[in-house]
Amino acid sequence: MKKKLMAMLLSMALLGSLAGCGVSTTAPNGADDKGSSASDSKQTKSDGKTIGILMPTKSSERWIKDGDDMVKGLKDLGYATNLQYAEDVVETQVSQAENLITKGVSALVIANIDGESLTDVCQKAKDAGIPVIAYDRLIKNTPNVDYYISFDNTLVGVQVGQYIEKSLDLKNASKSFNIELFAGSPDDNNAHMLYDGAMSVLKPYIDSKKLTVVSGQTTFDEVCTLRWDGALAQARMENLLTANYASGKKVDAVFSSYDGLSRGIVEALRSVGYGSKDLPWPVITGQDAETATVKSIVAGEQTQTIFKDTRLLSAQAVKTVDAVLNGKKAEVNDEKTYNNGVKVVPSYLCTPVSVDKTNYKTVLVDSGYIKESDLSK
Ligand code: GAL
Repeated sequence: MKKKLMAMLLSMALLGSLAGCGVSTTAPNGADDKGSSASDSKQTKSDGKTIGILMPTKSSERWIKDGDDMVKGLKDLGYATNLQYAEDVVETQVSQAENLITKGVSALVIANIDGESLTDVCQKAKDAGIPVIAYDRLIKNTPNVDYYISFDNTLVGVQVGQYIEKSLDLKNASKSFNIELFAGSPDDNNAHMLYDGAMSVLKPYIDSKKLTVVSGQTTFDEVCTLRWDGALAQARMENLLTANYASGKKVDAVFSSYDGLSRGIVEALRSVGYGSKDLPWPVITGQDAETATVKSIVAGEQTQTIFKDTRLLSAQAVKTVDAVLNGKKAEVNDEKTYNNGVKVVPSYLCTPVSVDKTNYKTVLVDSGYIKESDLSK
């Protein structure tokens, strides 16, 4: 009895300490979070089940949308949720996962911070009979991940590469263009796939010298950005400009893998005079179609982004959780690409869409993803 009381107090204290890390719990269908039973209107067995959702950080708008949409979708099916953010600290995410396993959640949906950090956690989940779904980022080095829900990450890279190819008309160009490259975080499998996809388009032009990487930094290790950190990208761009472009050379394009990086890159370029009549913005790519970035695209700073509709992704994750918890095989559309080092994880991949000034209205505003009014704020 005493032990039980101690355990209760301990978990209450832990919950309290996690509150500062962006924890939110919901009960299904407007009920309070006291384990009340769910409505069965959608004919799924969701009664009393809580789904643990772990997202990497609130510093990026997209993960907030992902989390909120998933909570809503799961609630609609009668599940309770426990959503937590780890502000990009790997250890925080690991202990959040351990805590949710101890609390006995019915399933875990995880967008990891470091794809290789969850091997032990996934083993613990497996031992406790808790299915694990990797959300957008592949969980590596474990047999204990049941499904992977993401976008076609190679295609994202190919679309970015093709956008640069088209914008500079590289197929027909008779001159060489200066470019710099920015990849994502080395501990995120998506960053590697995106870079490889983009390089499948751009490398032939680098080899034939239609594209010149003036800094000479072309390998993934040289161009990656730990934790997709925009401040790091800004500092690196500033250094590249000082070291390689001070003599009057001009940047014609920046391959950037994520809007957060691109915004830092824009600021670095702005600080040396880009965005003026004499020094127009180069082609700058991105990913995620975040509101601040779409505003930047409309203002003619960043050129393009990749729209990964988090509504589709979160809805697919909800369906997958529901299928697994009802003993069904979840829908997948790729069973060969995502080898996590131990097994090929059955995957459902959504299709990314390239967005620029010409189609942002149709793709983002008309579809209700971004409100037109938010773009003028
Ligand atoms: C990646 C994801 C991107 C972007 C990035 C930074 O894993 O594929 O869409 O969100 O993280 O958050």
